[in-house]
Amino acid sequence: MVVKVENLVKRYKELIALDHFNMEVREGEILGLLGPNGCGKTTAINSILSLLKFDKGQITIFGEEMTPNSYHIKKEIGIVPQEVSVFQNLTVYENIDYFCGLYIDDKKLRKEYVAQAIDFVDLNEFKKFFPKKLSGGLKRRLNIACGIVHKPKLIFLDEPTVAVDAQSRNFILEGIKKLNKSGSTIIYTTHYLEEAEVLCDRIIIMDRGKNIVSGTNEELKSMITTTEKIVVGFVDANGELLEKIKNIAHVLDIELKDNDYIIKFENGVNNLSNLIEFIKENNLTYEKLYSRQPTLNDVFLELTGKELRD
Ligand SMILES: Nc1ncnc2c1ncn2[C@@H]1O[C@H](COP(=O)(O)OP(=O)(O)O)[C@@H](O)[C@H]1O
Ligand SMILES: [Mg+2]
Repeated sequence: MVVKVENLVKRYKELIALDHFNMEVREGEILGLLGPNGCGKTTAINSILSLLKFDKGQITIFGEEMTPNSYHIKKEIGIVPQEVSVFQNLTVYENIDYFCGLYIDDKKLRKEYVAQAIDFVDLNEFKKFFPKKLSGGLKRRLNIACGIVHKPKLIFLDEPTVAVDAQSRNFILEGIKKLNKSGSTIIYTTHYLEEAEVLCDRIIIMDRGKNIVSGTNEELKSMITTTEKIVVGFVDANGELLEKIKNIAHVLDIELKDNDYIIKFENGVNNLSNLIEFIKENNLTYEKLYSRQPTLNDVFLELTGKELRD
């Protein structure tokens, strides 16, 4: 286990930001910490990194207890904080070089690492720019370069794609995959479920300072009772129809949303064909009909009773 967090409690006065939070990170994985804004992701990361004092709990990194003075652990860690934190009076190059110099003494190696980090985030054109001249997406890339320039074994990225354009976002997500392929273990916080789905090997769903559930994308989706949703826009819907649909095999529940029937199924592999059969038998017409597998939003909804989406 690369990181182990047990019963972490953090209070801001009367607010309990972390309520016996637990987390395990395995070597070589991309672990996603997924939860809504304000659920405690940043507080958890900053506590784990000893950047924040916490009230209770045990944290080990690489099998050793993490403390504010654990410099030998810290030099193996890369941190990309939620708020872009670079020096405004240093250029792109100087910023990356500064962060590299905190960990790498050898001059030649330092130069090499800085050049590689600049290549990695594709900021060669902007080396001499000051941060305030960069767009939001480019600033994020600089922030990432500063965090990973010393080639850490373990990298924490706290919502690195918030407020960046789609192109930079994809660039960042691809970059994280590359870092992982080259051997780094990644901890990635996000409130975007789509990102967690496409990027992470395992996901911990978090809400109100607690870890709710963890597993692979597939494992999380298999935990809930709804296995499929079929959306139908009937032209001639009525109350009687609704009752009849409820009798189709495996139907769990029906919801009417903007004139669409959202039919939830549990289990069953022929749900769509059964429904089409029913539609034919009853001579019904529809404007749309599609099946949707559950998303992490459905998992979150079923486990917490609320939507993860903003
Ligand atoms: N410095 C602080 N002082 C008081 N409350 C804070 C502070 N930082 C965070 N909080 C509160 O703690 C909770 C968790 O915040 P945070 O860890 O930033 O969540 P997330 O990163 O998941 O959005 C929120 O309710 C937030 O308002
Ligand atoms: Mg945060």
